[in-house]
Amino acid sequence: MQKIKTFFQCQACGFTSPKWLGKCPDCGGWNSFAEERREKTGRHASLVKNLGKSEPQPLSSVKSGAEQRTSTGIRELDRVLGGGVVAGSVILVGGDPGIGKSTLLLQALSGLARTDGNVLYVSGEESPEQIKIRAERLAVHSDNIILLSETSLETIVGTASKIVPKAMVIDSIQTMYTEEILSAPGSVSQVRDCAAKLMFFAKKSDIPVFLVGHVTKEGAIAGPRVLEHIVDTVLYFEGDRGHAYRILRTVKNRFGSTNEIGIFEMSDAGLLEVENPSELFLLERPLGVSGSTVVASIEGTRPLMVEIQSLVSQTSFGMPRRTTIGVDFNRVNLLVAVLEKKVGLHLGGMDVFVNVVGGLKLVEPAIDLGIIATVASSLKDIPIEANIFVFGEVGLSGEIRAVAHAETRVKEAAKIGFQRGIMPAGNADKMKHEFGIEIIGVRNVEECLDAVFR
Ligand code: TYD
Ligand code: MG
Repeated sequence: MQKIKTFFQCQACGFTSPKWLGKCPDCGGWNSFAEERREKTGRHASLVKNLGKSEPQPLSSVKSGAEQRTSTGIRELDRVLGGGVVAGSVILVGGDPGIGKSTLLLQALSGLARTDGNVLYVSGEESPEQIKIRAERLAVHSDNIILLSETSLETIVGTASKIVPKAMVIDSIQTMYTEEILSAPGSVSQVRDCAAKLMFFAKKSDIPVFLVGHVTKEGAIAGPRVLEHIVDTVLYFEGDRGHAYRILRTVKNRFGSTNEIGIFEMSDAGLLEVENPSELFLLERPLGVSGSTVVASIEGTRPLMVEIQSLVSQTSFGMPRRTTIGVDFNRVNLLVAVLEKKVGLHLGGMDVFVNVVGGLKLVEPAIDLGIIATVASSLKDIPIEANIFVFGEVGLSGEIRAVAHAETRVKEAAKIGFQRGIMPAGNADKMKHEFGIEIIGVRNVEECLDAVFR
């Protein structure tokens, strides 16, 4: 008789317990435990058996070959992958429902199917007819794209082993189940096991596998950290439903750098690449109004000129409000405190709103100077000249710290047509090329504001 083991597992982090718990001791989530069942033998044993034994070997005797990369035909996607799809890699694409994951991957498969050889699109969510409708919208007509509506992992791997596709998409990992586990599809143990099996399949066959991952209400990929550990590359597809822009961000990449972004625009014929994002983000910039300036930011290896807006207004309640969109809330609080203490601006009785235009999220500290400048501009109601751009990190004592890639930023600004750059003195002193831009180095917040409002 089969022995079935029952246990409880946190659906957020994968923590297991023999009894049900109201609060996960690992991740602190409430009411996140669900019952899971699995046969007592088998799984680990079979996985180990499959992997076979490996012998220890000296590092110097390991053959190094440049990894094989294939272009998807979508440059923005190739870039976030680190220069194309690596053979045998597993790539997880996460994002909100309806953001365009299926669209992107169908377009990528069509690019990969340009040359000889089949590609396999496995959908557990949509019927082949539905996929066909999308393909027609995207003008994808390739005989090389094979569709499979299936949710059993064993069947999928069996089919894939037979047709040996050049690449494969699993849409989505939460709908797949393996027969070795008795829990429902979408539960942590199913998601984790399916991903591990696909990883094993990819490595063995050298077929790259794309996994679509759904995102939970909190914004993490369901069965989250467990999946991120297993796969080679994690991409997040972000963007407002209200905006047409979509940003594909590398969160983890074993074959390239992280924080790289690809920018797309959702059109009625699928996702279009945005070649010149800086121009796009500055398209509707209001000129001659206070509380707006442009920062030269870097995302991954890519310079982006982005407008930051601030609005400072008298608070009508006892507690002044701070609201941020696209930048870190605590960072803004800190910068507002620096402005109060070091420059003497009276922000204590003021509501402060900071917004990054275009639905972009900026995380690097080099945007500090932009926040400082726009908040000061809005408070004083003095516009910042349109041909100025800023970048630099602000420290707690009001000093401006140098940031990386200063020349790349200045070069991008020159390309767009800016004329004056306000940046950390540490960067300005080392600048080798000026690209026809008036470079102004500043050492502290006061100097920065003097330069901005001179
Ligand atoms: P989809 O790829 O199905 O999203 P996901 O797989 O992430 O859930 O994209 C769905 C949305 O994209 C849907 O709201 C319609 C829109 N869309 C377009 O605007 N243009 C197109 O060409 C396509 C295929 C979809
Ligand atoms: Mg989909």
